[in-house]
Parts: sequence; C-alpha cells; structure tokens
Amino acid sequence: MGREALNVTNQFNTLQFLTEFVTLLTLIVMKTALITGASSGIGAAFARELAARKIDLILVARSQEKLQQLAEQLQEKFQIRTETIVQDLTQTGAARSLYDAIAQKGGTVDLLINNAGFGDYGAFADRELQRQVDMIQLNITALVELTYLFLPQMKQRGSGGIINVSSIAGFQPLPYMSVYAATKAFVLNFSEALWAENKDSGVRILALCPGATESNFFKEAAFPSSFAGKNKSGYTSAEEVVRDALKALEKNHSTVVTGGTANQLIVNLPRLFPRDWLVSVVEKQFKS
Ligand SMILES: NC(=O)c1ccc[n+]([C@@H]2O[C@H](COP(=O)([O-])OP(=O)(O)OC[C@H]3O[C@@H](n4cnc5c(N)ncnc54)[C@H](OP(=O)(O)O)[C@@H]3O)[C@@H](O)[C@H]2O)c1
Repeated sequence: MGREALNVTNQFNTLQFLTEFVTLLTLIVMKTALITGASSGIGAAFARELAARKIDLILVARSQEKLQQLAEQLQEKFQIRTETIVQDLTQTGAARSLYDAIAQKGGTVDLLINNAGFGDYGAFADRELQRQVDMIQLNITALVELTYLFLPQMKQRGSGGIINVSSIAGFQPLPYMSVYAATKAFVLNFSEALWAENKDSGVRILALCPGATESNFFKEAAFPSSFAGKNKSGYTSAEEVVRDALKALEKNHSTVVTGGTANQLIVNLPRLFPRDWLVSVVEKQFKS
C-alpha cells in the first residue's frame, strides 16, 4: 500500500475512533431516563437494560403495582434511583402534568422514551370510536407533547436523546389496524424530521420500528387468537428490540427496524409495488 493510501486509512481510523468516543461520552452523560409504558413489554425491557447501565429511571404507566414492583427490583439490584408516576396518557393535558411533576422536583430527563402505545384489531367501521380517539391521543398526541416539552432543555444542554416507538406497521397502510398503522406512520415521519432538525445539536432522535415482539400488545389489540398465535416463533424478544434500539441511538441513526432480515424486506419492498395492489395483498393477509 502506498504512503498516501496509508495516510487516508490512518485518518479514517482516527475519525472512526473520535466518533465512537463522542458516542460513548453521549451515553455516559445520560443520567436519567423517562420511559412511558414501562409496566410491561418493550418499556419494561428498556427499564431493565438502562438500569443495568446505571441510568436512573422515571417509570410511567397506569398500572401502579407493576411499576412499583419493577422499580423496587431494579433499585435493589442495580443501586439506581427510580421514581414511578401513574398516569393515563390518553387524558387531555396528561403530558403537561407529567412534565410539571418532574420539573417541580427539579428532575432532568436526559433520555425520553415515548413507548406507551396500543393497537386495535378489526374493520374500522366496526370498532369503537372512543378507542380510536384514545389511540391517537396516546400514540401521537402525548408523544408529540412530551417531545415538545423535553426537547428544548436537551438542546440547551447540547445533549440528550429521544426514542419514539413506531413500528414496521408505520411503513405501509394496514387494513384491520388502519388507525394504529397510521399513528405509527406519523411517529416515524415526525421522528425522522426531528432527527434531521437536531442532528447538529447534540440531541439524538430515533424512530424505533419493531416488528412482531413478545409483549402484551397482541392481547391488548384484541387480535383473534388464531392470528396472534400464527408465527409466534418469528417474534423478537423485547430485550433484543431494546438492545438494537440503544445501539442505533449510540450510532445516531434516525431509524432502526428490529427483528432481522424479514422485517427489512417488509419495510423496503412496498416501495417497488403499486399501492392499490400492495394494500389489497396486505388486506388478505390481515383478514381474520
Ligand atoms: N409488540 C409488538 O409486536 C410491537 C411492534 C411494533 C411496535 N410496538 C409498539 O411498542 C410499544 C410498546 O408496546 P408493547 O409491545 O411493549 O406492548 P405492551 O406490553 O402492551 O405495553 C404497552 C405499555 O403501554 C402502557 N400504556 C397503555 N395504555 C396507556 C395509557 N393510556 N397511558 C399510559 N400508559 C399506557 C402499558 O401500561 P399500562 O397498561 O400499565 O398503562 C404498557 O406499559 C407500543 O407503542 C407499540 O405500539 C409493539
């Protein structure tokens, strides 16, 4: 190899080292994480993984007992500080109450994980309207409000991270989960736009797009048992989703699709097909 080529390689290695060093520093300065929907599934897995990394936790959901149990376990095992806040995030003004409760205690949030969410299986016209409205309130409105409230302080500090949980369902319309998939498309687009706006600010924004993951999601969404049981072996564990998400945040990616190659195909192939045809195929797949 010539001297010039060696120089370029050395410069590249130095640059790579510096990038990795800055990444490491970014995670070290993250002291406190706020996780919505921390009482089960992906949210609880985030809590366990971050606790193991010695990050203090503010855990939010409606199930007081589950939150309390998890907080006590993690506090004891990892010697971290935990706080639980019981909050129904479908209520108007819930995000502001949550923000105020933390601010009043002088708390700082370095990593916001907007994870709470649910789906609802069935033909749109047959489902309860209030459940669709609540879903939009939780999956979109609360997420936007919390992002709006916590982002300015992160920008001021020049550090921090926000993980917004979208889904592979956010990449194409999903018959029989129409509102859910549309909320996740919102989260995906919103988060990617914010990533670009903030990429030089020191604040990392990530759209986390899991495929089918082991959690209470399918039960909560009232998926028909025949359907929810299909391909269970293909489900990813919540722990794997969380590890992939944190790796992507460390690398400052805008988006991460978890769950392997099959999910990469699911999110990328739709671009190649006519939309009418594709959504008709998906309709057949999702009909119970
Ligand atoms: N599992 C999957 O296959 C999958 C795939 C892609 C994306 N996702 C997304 O991943 C996120 C986490 O879901 P999961 O799979 O872990 O399901 P999960 O086990 O059902 O967890 C949902 C969490 O959200 C909380 N939550 C629900 N309604 C709430 C409300 N009104 N106010 C506050 N918290 C509320 C739940 O706690 P409480 O009931 O105690 O309030 C629970 O902690 C969701 O945004 C979901 O859309 C899941």
